[in-house]
Amino acid sequence: TAVVEHTFVVSEMNMTHLCKEMLVTVVNGQFPGPMIEVTEGDSLVVHVVNKSPHNITIHWHGVKQLLNCWADGVSMITQSPILPNQNFTYRFSVTGQEGTLWWHAHVTCLRATLHGAFIIRPRHGASSYPFPNPDKEVPIIIGEWWEMDLDELDRRMRDSLFNDNPSGATMNGKLGDLYNCSGAKEDGYVLNVEPGKTYLLRIINAALYSEYYIKIAGHKFTVVATDANYVNPYTTDIIAIAPGETIDALVVADAPPGGYYITALANQSPKPDHQMPKFVTRGTVWYSTRHVSSNGTAPPVAPEMPDQHDTMATFYFHGNLTSLNDTQQPLVPERADESLFITVGLGSICRRGETCKRSGSNEAIIVATMNNVSFQLPDTNMPLLEAHYYHTGGMDVLQELPDRPPMVFNFTDRGLIPWGPKEGQLEPTSRGSLVRRFRHGAVVDIVFQGTAVMQSASNPMHLHGHNMFVLAQGVGNYDAARDVAKYNLVDPPVRNSVVVPRIGWAAIRFVADNPGVWFMHCHYEFHLSMGMAAIFIVEDGPTVETSLPPPPLELLACNHGHHVVPN
Ligand code: C2O
Repeated sequence: TAVVEHTFVVSEMNMTHLCKEMLVTVVNGQFPGPMIEVTEGDSLVVHVVNKSPHNITIHWHGVKQLLNCWADGVSMITQSPILPNQNFTYRFSVTGQEGTLWWHAHVTCLRATLHGAFIIRPRHGASSYPFPNPDKEVPIIIGEWWEMDLDELDRRMRDSLFNDNPSGATMNGKLGDLYNCSGAKEDGYVLNVEPGKTYLLRIINAALYSEYYIKIAGHKFTVVATDANYVNPYTTDIIAIAPGETIDALVVADAPPGGYYITALANQSPKPDHQMPKFVTRGTVWYSTRHVSSNGTAPPVAPEMPDQHDTMATFYFHGNLTSLNDTQQPLVPERADESLFITVGLGSICRRGETCKRSGSNEAIIVATMNNVSFQLPDTNMPLLEAHYYHTGGMDVLQELPDRPPMVFNFTDRGLIPWGPKEGQLEPTSRGSLVRRFRHGAVVDIVFQGTAVMQSASNPMHLHGHNMFVLAQGVGNYDAARDVAKYNLVDPPVRNSVVVPRIGWAAIRFVADNPGVWFMHCHYEFHLSMGMAAIFIVEDGPTVETSLPPPPLELLACNHGHHVVPN
């Protein structure tokens, strides 16, 4: 094992797309940011130098950080943000995980441009992949191009002014030839392939806004891993990937030599009364031996994409994933010690006092909720993890996440609540700093229930510091008497993000074995900003080896503002 060291210089840079120059916050002058490549077992040292005017943290999405919650990089939960002109070093190791993860800023909406791939290769080399050794590995990062200030976007989302849209979708930072700027086409991503060779695509959805459907004309994918956990090979012509998810898929260049578009199309809700823009980006897979005719190269072939409103395509895609039963996969515990039922939905909150009742009045704003409470960070100067570790008072303001929603109703009856939200249709709700404490080692079941007011899309619920077994998913209301029998306790996929189907539910099980303060939230940025989040606190175990160690010294310096400022 090795120590892999990186320096991330965060700064602002001008970039031009769609005829407009924008000031973009980037790492080392790149969008997407630099790729991190490690071997399982390696240690990482990443020096973040903040030369931007923003407060920054970097989160290592999906890295378990066992006994190392201090390096999780969530602003005001695990650390104070790195202020402009300050620096901070993250140190952690990557053990027991292989495949594709990613890193991103975890403060306001800055992750739209502050993100990159995080690749973990097996200790014993590529020949130990549980699938045919690929000839080449290729990251494919789906993102968005926003023509607005991302701190401002965050404020607008918090104020539920959620009419903002990205101006386009990107593949490895390129918008592609479906966009143009006064007649000149935007560049698209190009993947050059050789006939007969096998490519491992490491696909990441870094978008704030949308789930994507991805296809390559004339080719199939064989999915081999998700969220850095191997799955039984699943061959499909379409990949569905929600924000936060990562998917590894093999593609064999076995089509007649030529050009083929690789298209990523945003999946969108049925919204008859809103015509949303069609977010799509495409790149091209070019064969090295493509036929060149007398009048140039034949144009690439385009894949036939599903309907943008076909949310069942993602339901089936995710339902077909099972984990590869190899010795590295943990066994699913047979039963849970505790069970939670969490609705993910929308509610309305009065701006002032509790006097307004209706969401339609301009005194009320719309918020996103779990069990009808909308998350807000407590108003303290100390990051929660530190307050937890030192038992300082800051934790008293936290409010217990209830086991169940405050009322039972027909969660998914679309007749009850047509696409809204319209006046009077949203439950009055409240804000709270939701927290749930778990005994070390507790086996926890959660059913996430989507609700009709949240019918816009599936909700990718992401848990920090732990992987979850995805036991089952379904359409409609969860019914324990019927649905427990559907639980896959043999080879459920192991994920850090579970996609809760639109107008449906998903059931997960996880073992709370990583002491610390962990964020759990929807990975749609606007749902997160609007409050679809909670904090999970895992208590220390009985021994030193199962307890959270003291914070690294530089973290304390960071949290108390004594940064060493680089020349
Ligand atoms: Cu990908 Cu809380 O993060």
